[in-house]
Amino acid sequence: EDRVSVGLLGVGVVGSGVISLIEKHQAKLAHQLGCGVHVKSALVRNPEKARSVDAKVNGTTLTTNPDDVLNDPEIDVIVEVMGGIEEARESILKAFASKKHVVTANKDLVALHGAELHEVAGGNKCDFYYEASVAGGIPILRGITDGFASDHIEQLMGIVNGTTNYILTKMHNEGVLFDDALKEAQALGFAEADPTADVEGLDAARKMAILGRLAFSTYIDLEDVEITGINGIELADLQYGDSLGFTMKLIGFATFDGKQVEVNVQPALISKEHPLADVKNEYNAVYVYGEAVGEAMFYGAGAGSMPTAAAVISDVITVIKNMHRGVTGSQFVEPRFKKELKPADQ
Ligand code: NDP
Ligand code: HSE
Repeated sequence: EDRVSVGLLGVGVVGSGVISLIEKHQAKLAHQLGCGVHVKSALVRNPEKARSVDAKVNGTTLTTNPDDVLNDPEIDVIVEVMGGIEEARESILKAFASKKHVVTANKDLVALHGAELHEVAGGNKCDFYYEASVAGGIPILRGITDGFASDHIEQLMGIVNGTTNYILTKMHNEGVLFDDALKEAQALGFAEADPTADVEGLDAARKMAILGRLAFSTYIDLEDVEITGINGIELADLQYGDSLGFTMKLIGFATFDGKQVEVNVQPALISKEHPLADVKNEYNAVYVYGEAVGEAMFYGAGAGSMPTAAAVISDVITVIKNMHRGVTGSQFVEPRFKKELKPADQ
């Protein structure tokens, strides 16, 4: 049969989008790849749960046994969109051991275990891609690793968490209370299963660590990232900022001066004139300063089912193209600089 079988781990907000978008874009996929793409089976906790896609209609079998997906010899590509760290890590390691390529949207996992997973992927001649892990539908990782490949990136600054940006926008523009805005973000599928990581800034820190590693070719430990979240921010704080011409945003900064990397995440008052002040709701934006290119800004939907699914499927397309060419690839960049932030060759 002339189609590539994909195994899905998770059919939640993102996984449902992956199933429906693959189905919707069959003709486009066939045109680009010269073959079909099919989600053969998918791991869930509860197969009886009502979902936004009817997996059966798309010919996808739901299972609660990870081995049904990870050990299926017909499946070449595993898409991990179940979230969490340890189970996801073990599943991905199993997938590599079975010589399956892996695409994930899991920034928690990539921020903590990206280097290990990259190494195991390489050892098994498997692909490992995670475009959706940072800034949802914005192709920022490709932008950095490919678009800026010839440049020297000095600075990154961005709004990389959709949930907190949604909360701050609703509070600032409509006077909605923090807790109510958070509930809306959860209902819309932007927040993590446990939204503490969103509101406390950890999700943004994980994304900044991933971005910084790729941009600066160095190791960045999460413990080295200074993090302040938006919990504790009140309507009065936003109103006061507004009266002075400012909008509050949760901003991630990462800089590299050739010797030292600095990464932090904190709420910041941004002048209403600044383009980042106009980034509303779940939208994200990443500002990149490259020595040669100068300023560049990437903007778009940073969370949500379809934007994230689109990024996941772009990775699946890359994996299938690699399979056809007989090459393997990964989004990881070998660090040129060691952990102590000195050039590796000094
Ligand atoms: P959801 O909570 O909506 O979905 C998780 C899915 O995984 C569910 O189908 C659930 O099964 C299944 N699942 C979770 N744990 C297990 C387990 N132990 N065994 C079997 N099945 C399991 O999450 P999202 O889709 O929102 O997020 C998925 C990943 O994508 C996360 O890593 C998240 O950080 C990342 N991400 C999410 C974005 C978003 O906008 N939501 C954007 C970018 C990345 P069941 O349905 O039966 O409960
Ligand atoms: N919870 C995340 C956010 C999902 O709100 O940005 C996208 O990574």
